[in-house]
Amino acid sequence: MSEPNLQEVVRQKYGAAAKLAAAGGVASCGSGADPSCCDPITKDLYDPSEIAEVPEKAVAASLGCGNPTALAQLRPGETVLDLGSGGGIDVLLSAKRVGPAGKAYGLDMTDEMLALARENQRKSGLTNVEFLKGAIESIPLPDNSVDVIISNCVINLSGDKDRVLEEAFRVLKPGGRLAVSDVVVRGEVPAAIRKSMELWVGCIAGALEEFEYRDKLYRAGFESIDMEPTRVYKSEEARDFLSSAGFDPESVGPEIDGRFISAFVRAVKPAGRGRVVGPSCRG
Ligand SMILES: C[S@@+](CC[C@H](N)C(=O)[O-])C[C@H]1O[C@@H](n2cnc3c(N)ncnc32)[C@H](O)[C@@H]1O
Repeated sequence: MSEPNLQEVVRQKYGAAAKLAAAGGVASCGSGADPSCCDPITKDLYDPSEIAEVPEKAVAASLGCGNPTALAQLRPGETVLDLGSGGGIDVLLSAKRVGPAGKAYGLDMTDEMLALARENQRKSGLTNVEFLKGAIESIPLPDNSVDVIISNCVINLSGDKDRVLEEAFRVLKPGGRLAVSDVVVRGEVPAAIRKSMELWVGCIAGALEEFEYRDKLYRAGFESIDMEPTRVYKSEEARDFLSSAGFDPESVGPEIDGRFISAFVRAVKPAGRGRVVGPSCRG
């Protein structure tokens, strides 16, 4: 799928999910017919104390695959940017962590998600929050302006992940941290099965293989790259989905068991790299 088409499919999917959450339902990234498709991925990511801190509809719209704010070290006074902020749950939690002297930006391209996020911000009463409209491939913020970039199950959806990581690198301050949750594939998985599993886990295919991800981060200029599994998916959990996609869960099970994970991906922009260097200048 070409990049503009992919973005349009993603936008429609998440626009519908936002409308559902705004109307009092629970957002799902799967087909509307089966809202339970993503439960093993999105369920139980936040602990009750975090849930109590944010408006109900921010929780209902949560479509992540991790909890980056719990794993990232956010300090009072810092500026945080959430790539693909959806209904805003991670932005609101970050805003509380960085306090009134800090700032939390959410960036999303889907109008319905932005409307829901802004409504959730209004209900939360937080004033150190701003939701921006735009694509994560072209971040509408200046160079060297952000301390921490978080993201929750969004980079896997992009058709141009190199660009996303280059943009993340550009807007981070020297010494700034990338701390994102994402779906990652471990090792070789036959292409057709991989596509179906990615649809199940990430709703729209696009997860990177672990070493490919590390390589892209390195090429974007990051250092101290680390990838920590937070959830490992069992073939059993995708059984119904695999059957409906025409696979025999018994025979493909061993090929996918444990190969799809949610990971917490960490990396740092080197302290001496304030100036953004083009790809041809990197060693
Ligand atoms: C899987 S949802 C995750 C939302 C949120 N991070 C959460 O944890 O609930 C993906 C979100 O990313 C947004 N998105 C996807 N691709 C994007 C892109 N290329 N640029 C900006 N936003 C994007 C979608 O509109 C949607 O709100």
